[in-house]
Amino acid sequence: MRKQIVAGNWKMNNDLAQTEALLSDLKKQNQSSNAEVMVAPTFTNLYHAFEALRTSNIEVVAQNMHFAANGAYTGEISASMLKSVGVETVILGHSERREYFNETDELLAKKVDAALANSMRIIFCFGEELADRKSGNEEAVVGGQIKNALFHLEAAAFQNIVLAYEPVWAIGTGETASPEQAQDMHAFIRKTLADKYGNNIADEVSILYGGSVKPANAEEIFSKPDVDGGLIGGASLNAEDFYAIVNAF
Ligand code: PGA
Repeated sequence: MRKQIVAGNWKMNNDLAQTEALLSDLKKQNQSSNAEVMVAPTFTNLYHAFEALRTSNIEVVAQNMHFAANGAYTGEISASMLKSVGVETVILGHSERREYFNETDELLAKKVDAALANSMRIIFCFGEELADRKSGNEEAVVGGQIKNALFHLEAAAFQNIVLAYEPVWAIGTGETASPEQAQDMHAFIRKTLADKYGNNIADEVSILYGGSVKPANAEEIFSKPDVDGGLIGGASLNAEDFYAIVNAF
């Protein structure tokens, strides 16, 4: 059975006091679904969040990392540094990293390798831009992003990989992919995996949808057979909204 996952990507939001307030609100929520719940605070608050959530079932994950183990990379954070503060999962390839920090498929392949070498789990993000969808190229773009960054891996690596389809035109815009658009793309992604690694692997990999998921639309999106959860930005900054989404399963 594939895992159902709801992960909150806080992006560059919440200083220490705001993080404490949100963590405390999150701990007051009741979970009625079986979904795995994760939150991704900013680097400076990861250890604090890890300590605060130690007794909860919420996992603390990182939003990014560097591929090198250590060295002269001013401003960067390595996998072993993340692990040393309790972080076992990292988000890689978010479209904001690709767009504003020039992260390429080639760079992401290196980050993927570094995370796996450190026994970390990866939430690997990808998705097409509006122009790609308008020109009917969305599958070619998404298929290329997956192949370029992941298809050098052995099948066993996919036990530690969660995929997150996030159409760029739906992130932070209030415009969501329709449940049918999400399902169609998730089915394509699963077929792409099956063609390379076989059905057993493809059936086990969780594929999350991200892009303006809210309490009002989560249930319909999560009801689609190939949608195994969500990567939530804006709505993850409010504990009640976030848990309304967690409980939408
Ligand atoms: P959003 O962000 O929910 O605010 O659209 C999703 C994401 O970037 O992961």
